[in-house]
Amino acid sequence: MCGIFGYIGNRDAVPIVLEGLKSLEYRGYDSAGVAVVKNGEVGLRRCSGKLSNLKGLLASQPLEGNYGLGHTRWATHGRPTEENAHPHRDCKSRIVVVHNGIIENYLTLKRGLTSEGHQFTTETDTEVIAHLIEKYFDGNLESAVIEALKELRGLFAFSAISADDPQKIVTGRDGPPSVVGRVEGEGFVASDVPALLPHTRDVLFLDDGEIAVIEPGRIRLMDFSGKERELHFNRITWDPVQAEKGGFKHFMLKEIYEQPTAVSETLVGRLSLDSNEVRLDDVGFSVEEWRSFKNVCLIGCGTSWHSGLAGKYMIESLARIPVQVDYGSEFRYRNPVPQPDTLCVVITQSGETADALAAQRKARDMGMKILTITNVVGSMTTRLADGVLHTRAGPEIGVASTKAFATQLTALYMLALQLGRVHGSMTLEQLGAALSELTTLPHKLEKVLELDARIETVAKSLFRSNDFLFLGRGVHFPIALEGALKLKEISYIHAEGYPAGEMKHGPNALIDGNLPVVFVVTQDKDLPESQQRYEKVLNNIREVKSRDGIILSVGIEGDEEVAEASDHYLPVPASSDLLLPILEVVPLQLLAYRIAILRGCDVDQPRNLAKSVTVE
Ligand code: F6R
Repeated sequence: MCGIFGYIGNRDAVPIVLEGLKSLEYRGYDSAGVAVVKNGEVGLRRCSGKLSNLKGLLASQPLEGNYGLGHTRWATHGRPTEENAHPHRDCKSRIVVVHNGIIENYLTLKRGLTSEGHQFTTETDTEVIAHLIEKYFDGNLESAVIEALKELRGLFAFSAISADDPQKIVTGRDGPPSVVGRVEGEGFVASDVPALLPHTRDVLFLDDGEIAVIEPGRIRLMDFSGKERELHFNRITWDPVQAEKGGFKHFMLKEIYEQPTAVSETLVGRLSLDSNEVRLDDVGFSVEEWRSFKNVCLIGCGTSWHSGLAGKYMIESLARIPVQVDYGSEFRYRNPVPQPDTLCVVITQSGETADALAAQRKARDMGMKILTITNVVGSMTTRLADGVLHTRAGPEIGVASTKAFATQLTALYMLALQLGRVHGSMTLEQLGAALSELTTLPHKLEKVLELDARIETVAKSLFRSNDFLFLGRGVHFPIALEGALKLKEISYIHAEGYPAGEMKHGPNALIDGNLPVVFVVTQDKDLPESQQRYEKVLNNIREVKSRDGIILSVGIEGDEEVAEASDHYLPVPASSDLLLPILEVVPLQLLAYRIAILRGCDVDQPRNLAKSVTVE
């Protein structure tokens, strides 16, 4: 949460910093600010609200300088007011700091610094960093930062500049992400990769406990004790244009429409139709290692947890090995019983979610082998993992996750096939059929997107409802959960996902003529248990109908029975049971999007949320 952007070079820093902040605004948008140095003086502008307010302020009160820092905030300590907006300064306004994360011992530090004569002007934890650096500053910024770091507790990424050690940005990380970019004569730091893409694709992800000293065209890396480290750059293959809206009104809509490509990219090079194998060679596990896994533990947060829950159905069905699924935030604080030969799969789009990373560290300490499914090359999760399965969705900017989810499901399905193959629970024929069906997914996704106009009409009749229920069974239950999450996070409508069979144990009491109930009621005609579930869900539809509920169903194309039983019917192409979730979720994403637009909500920047949850 919170976006940091820094520039140093020979160009005018302010427009570059503002452009960087624009692509980081999804991380927080309570307030924003920028500081630059010119002729030995710090210039600073800050204001509450979105970046557009800061732009307005800079238009009437311009700033100039060729190095500086900017920040877009998601408030943790201190209200989202102008004075609490970053950057923050020391007593003499010579040192400037921007920060993402939490300084846990800031109150103790603040008391100590105040008694030493430092004057604080804000309620934030960040301000203590500026004063601590001031305390230790004797002409060299990185030395003062190293001394300050010895006293800071918590999870943080920060960047600092000083007018008295000019032409230098010092940036450090112990928790939230920090990415450094370098080009001839210039240097950059940002909280995330897309902000750097207009400038460079060669980026350095700081590790926890690392400091980078950025000077024009030169980067030095060191640990928190000041010991120099070797530079470790990654080449990012994302196209800068991918990180823009490309004619769509919102990133979320663009990303929903990118799903056929995102899924296709995730499959490329990983399906060997000749030998009926999934090729997960890039993960880096040997066949013996794959065979050694007798249990699987899936960990994620939010949408990524939903894909984990769907992954449980996939792996248990195809590989016949037991799977447990945990929220990162739960796993890290419970006392799980260690199971030998367990593969822990951490699912995280950003690769930087604090709870997922803490759970990952715990699983590693418990002796589990770790595979991470992530969308971001070089992110923290990849450095804590034994193997990495990249999802290749391209940059996901909309706060509500869409294409990342579809690609996570695709990756989990491939993982289930791989485990099924090495454990001998699938025949070559079954594997071959599964692989060729995977190749049809992008095309089927394109067909599902054609439902958008129909969904807009449905949305018009439902957008005034105050509550929604989403129901499904089996692997379709996690999709009901995901549909409810999408709706609540961007439209602020109360929505609950439930296993359809649980309705009679309580939620039936909610049903009346005002309640839309969304059923995921697809079927795989070749699978008897899918047929049974389908029949049961049809009964659930009738039960809701008899109590006057409004029925919206996502079913299979040509299913007259479901169409007739429902007030609104959204058909997806026929598929096998475990692949249907990748198709079913798309109408639910579009439904949430269209309803949120009709309610006048800001879908890319929903209130109280931020894209990367790098704090607890
Ligand atoms: C919801 C959403 C969040 C994320 C969650 C985990 O639309 O995007 O629930 O899924 O914060 O994020 P990652 O996958 O980056 O760990």
